[in-house]
Amino acid sequence: MTTKLILDCDTGSDDAVAIMAAALHPELELLAITTVNGNVPLENTTDNTLRVIDAIGVSIPVHAGAPRPLVRPDFPIPRHVLNEGREEFQKMRLDFPDPRSTASGRNAVEVLIEHYLSDEGPETVLVAVGPLTNVAAALTAEPRLAARIPRLVIMGGARGWGNVSATAEFNFWVDPEAAAVVFSAGIRDVLVCPLDATHDAPLSRAHCDRFDAIGTAGAVSTSLMVRQRIDTYPGSEHGTLDAAPVHDALCIAALVRPDVITEWVDAAVTVETGGLHSVGAMVVDDRSWSPLAHNARVALRADADIFADVLSEAFSA
Ligand code: RIB
Ligand code: CA
Repeated sequence: MTTKLILDCDTGSDDAVAIMAAALHPELELLAITTVNGNVPLENTTDNTLRVIDAIGVSIPVHAGAPRPLVRPDFPIPRHVLNEGREEFQKMRLDFPDPRSTASGRNAVEVLIEHYLSDEGPETVLVAVGPLTNVAAALTAEPRLAARIPRLVIMGGARGWGNVSATAEFNFWVDPEAAAVVFSAGIRDVLVCPLDATHDAPLSRAHCDRFDAIGTAGAVSTSLMVRQRIDTYPGSEHGTLDAAPVHDALCIAALVRPDVITEWVDAAVTVETGGLHSVGAMVVDDRSWSPLAHNARVALRADADIFADVLSEAFSA
């Protein structure tokens, strides 16, 4: 039984691993990829996505979406200010050959609405691993989508430390209003994979050795990107880490092996859209006495070896 999915991403290196795993795993059918502004500008997230699918030799429709957040004109702190003086962790151009493929020319939001209003919509899981601008725009323009998206898996948020601030994770911080729209839309099955879970299942150099031994394009390029992430992970002294989280790909692994998530809470989740120190923070209310209805399952712990098993299966297929 294969799982059909659409992947919405802001292709940087961990998105690239997610794309390859989703495109190659025998239990998954990647119907389309939609791209959004995030790690790098939309032009680059789209170009990087095309580089990745060409590198593994798959033909998957790619539709470019939002070039900026839903409401705000830019990130809460513009990208060039945020990245000033920091080693480039997410590359404008991933280390793959220039793409031969081209994007469809259709807008991602239009494609999401059309797909989820079609008969195939209720059979298609939506996985969102970048800022939620495209997903929020589609839900706002066509509220019927909330009842037709059967499952939404999101990489975003942090119950513990954030990565862009003490409280906020990048995807939710880039477009907090979009994240708030998505969590309030009423989608019946939402799984959030926040930094708590992704940092609990980092991929190691030993996992990379395993990918190298597989030897396929997906395996070798993933090994290269994960080794780069280990060497340059923000906040680590160069070369001091032995493993690094590959956030987005954990969402794909969870589709194949739900047991990769080893601890979670069901909660009422929303995202802070105000606050000088808390903008973009994910608020997880799992208090037994909370008056708020639960709207998501939030992963808190994950298993790196099961994660690596799923990637190995995908790259060996
Ligand atoms: O905070 C990590 C998330 O932000 C990942 O999805 C990464 O690709 C960036 O989009
Ligand atoms: Ca991403």
